[in-house]
Amino acid sequence: MSTLLEVSGVSVSFDGFKAINNLSFQIGPAEMRAIIGPNGAGKTTFMDIVTGKTRPDEGRVLWGEKSLSLLKMSEARIAREGVGRKFQRPTVFEDQSVHDNLLMALKNDRTPWSVLFFRPKFKDLARVEELASEIGLSDELNRKAGELSHGQKQWLEIGMLLAQEPRLLLVDEPAAGMTLSEREHTTDILVEAAKTRAVVVVEHDMEFVRRLNCKVTVLHEGSVLAEGSLDHVTQNQDVIDVYLGR
Ligand SMILES: Nc1ncnc2c1ncn2[C@@H]1O[C@H](COP(=O)(O)OP(=O)(O)OP(=O)(O)O)[C@@H](O)[C@H]1O
Ligand SMILES: [Mg+2]
Repeated sequence: MSTLLEVSGVSVSFDGFKAINNLSFQIGPAEMRAIIGPNGAGKTTFMDIVTGKTRPDEGRVLWGEKSLSLLKMSEARIAREGVGRKFQRPTVFEDQSVHDNLLMALKNDRTPWSVLFFRPKFKDLARVEELASEIGLSDELNRKAGELSHGQKQWLEIGMLLAQEPRLLLVDEPAAGMTLSEREHTTDILVEAAKTRAVVVVEHDMEFVRRLNCKVTVLHEGSVLAEGSLDHVTQNQDVIDVYLGR
């Protein structure tokens, strides 16, 4: 199987504390992966390293067919290479419609000037419809984003990320604050997205992880403690001791 992202031997310390410790991780081009582990295990820091926000002290982070090093790239360049990240607080434009939020997300150049003079082509409008359908917001296209529920805003944010056609999507704790039906819909969106790209989901909600139905990586003290199916890792005694049995 080919590899889209290969992290090997990565370590990073903050004031002498090793938040990531000789971490290795690989994901293929159309793969869903869940990352679980106790608070402070390094899950968010791992995403910070892949997106270029945090630079590791040692190790390699290689990307794509050409095995380019992400460590030499700026955050903006890494995003252009196809790494998209969803933050917990949605960054939708509340005063704009769902339609216009998705339309603006299609453009790479999102300076106010270029957005102002953006003349959407037919294919852009068709793509907006397609994205709205993927995130289940087809009936909300004309509503202002500010009127959406918390869950709907999160889906819009995912749609805006998908508009950029990332090859890898990183999602940190998407289920937080969602109702059960919102969480189920979020799972559906992510599972669909992972058919054509790599998706990494950090989540504490085990029912959510179960519905993702994918390989699970357990982080603990900045390293991989266990990896495999959810049933496999949840039967691992080390995982029970440090995480599940708390
Ligand atoms: N910029 C930073 N400066 C100092 N310490 C940091 C920084 N970022 C993370 N840490 C520390 O690194 C460790 C790992 O944090 P991280 O946020 O990656 O954990 P996590 O697995 O995402 O936890 P949670 O499940 O609570 O979100 C923690 O001890 C945290 O305090
Ligand atoms: Mg975190």
